[in-house]
Amino acid sequence: MKKKVLILYYSFSSQTRNILNHIGEGMIEAGVEVHWEQLRLLEPRRFPIGSYFGTFKAMATTFFRKRVAINNIDPEHRCEWDLVILGGPTWSFQPSGPILSLIDREKNRFLAGKKILPVISCRAYYAWHFRTLKKMLSKSLIHHQPIVFMHTIKEPWCTLGLFLKLAGKMPESGKNWFSRYYPKYGHTRQQLENAYLLGVIIGQTMLAGQNIDTLDFSVPVSLDPANLIRKNCG
Ligand SMILES: Cc1cc2nc3c(=O)[nH]c(=O)nc-3n(C[C@H](O)[C@H](O)[C@H](O)COP(=O)(O)O)c2cc1C
Repeated sequence: MKKKVLILYYSFSSQTRNILNHIGEGMIEAGVEVHWEQLRLLEPRRFPIGSYFGTFKAMATTFFRKRVAINNIDPEHRCEWDLVILGGPTWSFQPSGPILSLIDREKNRFLAGKKILPVISCRAYYAWHFRTLKKMLSKSLIHHQPIVFMHTIKEPWCTLGLFLKLAGKMPESGKNWFSRYYPKYGHTRQQLENAYLLGVIIGQTMLAGQNIDTLDFSVPVSLDPANLIRKNCG
């Protein structure tokens, strides 16, 4: 039987988008019909933020779950789906402002009663983010675990590198001593390949008529993706 999935997401620095493109491609490979929609901001924001002050300010305001205004979702997507994948980054331990706005607006309308699988892209911390999603989406059938992709660089370089990157300082640039400890911002090629495999597994599970609740997403995908794939492949 045909299965239809909507991938609805926000991405500031393309990390969630890259992950979701790969998950979606994997699902298509398995035979699922996939549609993507990226939330658009009413006032577009530039990445990187470009200054230390702007970065501090963004982190402080997002901590208090400041909403960021978004456009309406595409009317063509307001239909029934077998699954809605809701993806976005963690901002100061919380879902990002555009995702909070989406949920405020749609939790009793489009998202109500939908089966929702959250996908989170973050540096390292997602627990609070997921807790907020579960609370806000109480009228939806939210999956009991999110799929989480974390940045893979060791601390303290990961946190420092993220801050410098947001402030527009190019910490991964080869001309910089810091780049020895911080060669890349965001997710690795290996993580993207695992996202694709995960998409194949989710797609195959849906097409086999099985509930995706049987899949185990408990390992953050950056830590041991091989383990995750092994578990789900049986
Ligand atoms: C304002 C701001 C605050 C952030 N706060 C957190 C945080 O509290 N915890 C975390 O793990 N990552 C945090 N991050 C990092 C992002 O979650 C991470 O870079 C993610 O991969 C970005 O995904 P995107 O490119 O799809 O927006 C923050 C990023 C921004 C811009």
